[in-house]
Amino acid sequence: MSRKLFTVGPVEVFPDTLEAMSRPMVVHRGKDYQNLQHGVVEKLHKALDTDLEIFLSPCSATGFLESCVRCGVHKKMTGISNGSFGDRWQQIGTLNGKTVDRIDATWGKAVRREHIEGKISPEAEAITVVSNESSTGVLNPMLEIADAVRANGDPLLFVDGVTAVGAVDMHLREMRPDAMVFGSQKALALPPGLAIICVSERLMKKAETVQNRGYYFDLVEIKKFADKDLPLTTPAVSLLYGLDYQLDKWLREGSSARYDRHEAMTKMVHEWAMKRFGLYAEHGFRSRSISVVESGRFDVATFDKKVREKGYEISPGYGKVKDSTFRIGHMGDLTTSHIKELTDVMDAVLEEMK
Ligand SMILES: Cc1ncc(COP(=O)(O)O)c(C=O)c1O
Repeated sequence: MSRKLFTVGPVEVFPDTLEAMSRPMVVHRGKDYQNLQHGVVEKLHKALDTDLEIFLSPCSATGFLESCVRCGVHKKMTGISNGSFGDRWQQIGTLNGKTVDRIDATWGKAVRREHIEGKISPEAEAITVVSNESSTGVLNPMLEIADAVRANGDPLLFVDGVTAVGAVDMHLREMRPDAMVFGSQKALALPPGLAIICVSERLMKKAETVQNRGYYFDLVEIKKFADKDLPLTTPAVSLLYGLDYQLDKWLREGSSARYDRHEAMTKMVHEWAMKRFGLYAEHGFRSRSISVVESGRFDVATFDKKVREKGYEISPGYGKVKDSTFRIGHMGDLTTSHIKELTDVMDAVLEEMK
């Protein structure tokens, strides 16, 4: 049975998008493909309002998180974490043989300037940080963090924008990250399988000096091809068709209307959750794409099953708060009327469970 997804990713992909992805295949070493890649990158620049260089890869977002560490760090980095995905990036550093200094902030709370000030070693070559922590529903104040990083030695700044991009303005011109990574299956409302990275000149210069960058995730090699609108390896052509289509949709709607729509959906979900349960993330720093609802000892398994039976799907908790939370995704192409449908269904289920 098909269900409407209010999940944290992959999210609901609308039929028009799936249809756009079913265009005939093109071979990726020719003009048709080059035009497609060129157009997609140009539209990404517009949608994200950035001049950073943009690369694509047929992998999930984690691939490019690994690229940052492999291509941007000789020896030492600092990983900031206030949730599972922050921890994951620290782990990616360690598993790639880098020395990782950890800055661990409290789960459910935002990373603030005071977590960073005086905590970055002069040898740290890069900082990793997650913009929207999908395990806790915290949207970190990235401009404050970027400013604090610049005031504390100015190492490379790598940002996981996986569940933030497309839902909230990243203010890339002000934030000036050296890398920002995201993937197709979140607020872009596409199927999974395509990762995107925005990179600075500073990172690309550094990458040329770093040994053992590997092949698939080597930004230097990827750039050589991208300069000619070509992919390093066989690309996810159908996902590029889809991305091209979704970016047209984004640009037609307009970025500020898109972010307002996400804010309006968030407000509705918050109102619903606060009346019935509670929210895990601290007030003032709550995500615009994922709400993490505090379920305590409530029977989430039965609730989830009944919601599914009615044709809707939400997401379970994640990481160390897996058993005391559940998550609702409100991003991509969804609108407030979809959220109303979901909250009505969840209320009907709560009534049944009384
Ligand atoms: C914040 C965040 N970072 C990284 C990832 C990993 O992304 P992917 O599964 O596309 O590799 C996820 C996936 O949910 C995420 O939410």
